[in-house]
Amino acid sequence: MKTYTIAAIPGDGIGTEVVSAGIEVLNALAQREGGFAFKVDHFDWGGEYYKKHGRMMPENGRDLIRKHDAILFGSAGHPEIPDHITLWGLRLAICQPFDQYANVRPTRILPGITSPLRNVTDKELDWVIVRENSEGEYAGVGGRAHQGSSLEVATDVAMFTRAGVERIMRFAFRLARSRPRKKLTVVTKSNAQRHAMVMWDEIAAQVAAEFKDVTWDKMLVDAMTMRMVIKPETIDTVVATNLHADILSDLAAALAGSLGIAPTANLNPEREFPSMFEPIHGSAFDIMGKGIANPVGTFWSGVMMLEHLGEKTAGARLMKAIERVTADKRFHTPDLGGKATTKEVTAAVIEAIKGANA
Ligand code: IPM
Ligand code: MG
Repeated sequence: MKTYTIAAIPGDGIGTEVVSAGIEVLNALAQREGGFAFKVDHFDWGGEYYKKHGRMMPENGRDLIRKHDAILFGSAGHPEIPDHITLWGLRLAICQPFDQYANVRPTRILPGITSPLRNVTDKELDWVIVRENSEGEYAGVGGRAHQGSSLEVATDVAMFTRAGVERIMRFAFRLARSRPRKKLTVVTKSNAQRHAMVMWDEIAAQVAAEFKDVTWDKMLVDAMTMRMVIKPETIDTVVATNLHADILSDLAAALAGSLGIAPTANLNPEREFPSMFEPIHGSAFDIMGKGIANPVGTFWSGVMMLEHLGEKTAGARLMKAIERVTADKRFHTPDLGGKATTKEVTAAVIEAIKGANA
């Protein structure tokens, strides 16, 4: 029997609630499936850890999770700690050194869930956003000088490398090719940002020549927000920079009904390092401890984890179970307008796993 080692990093806020729900579901799935099991190691890194130790994770933190098959992450963010510290101290401190350069964010309207857009179903809205996850606006390049004086200056430099853009572009074209519509939209802002974004456009055209069977088009990011709302059916796979895709993926999640259901994979496609799977939502301190966090984003991230591990049948079974549960409004949490609790949704998905023949 195959045993996958999973590093669970629940983090802060509702992260702890949804990750424990996710592990329950993954274990139930492994049991139902047979043939594989999970060994989960828990790491209590995050805001509370910071308050005790002055850092978000131990100095050798990455060494402790480097050999795991995958990482299941909750969320980082703490009301008493500045957001840039929690982000750079944990999530980016894992993503960047582990070279998880492809951040993949599928968006689809699941059964039983209504889009805020009129007359839009999963036929019109079935997208995957590929976010460059290693450089760009999140490169961390910049600085401050004359701090505290009237001359104060601050820069955040978006830094793009040809190698970085080429690899994410190839990844996106490959992903687009694997989907039925074989269609990619390359998003930039190459009218105003006249250096790096122009390089993106050039690289897109070069890489496109290797993927003659993929139809592709270009879009400026501002116009893209409009297209997502007005003509969602014209979109399939999307590739964009770290910041642009961050913003577009929140819009995508909202258009698909709730941030609470959206999943993410932070992939190191070369598999030199473990990849990391997480719900797209944050730590949501306003609902923390109430037991009403939507665990579906974590479950769906679990599906992406199973696919990455090569457990396609199990992934399909879990997705089917999730869809069976979202189809039933009794199992909608408050973010979807319902009254269900995290526990009720989790129990329902486990029940569906036992019954589902994927
Ligand atoms: C995301 C989040 C993070 C990001 C935040 C928490 C810093 O919004 O994963 O989309 O911007 O990368
Ligand atoms: Mg975001």
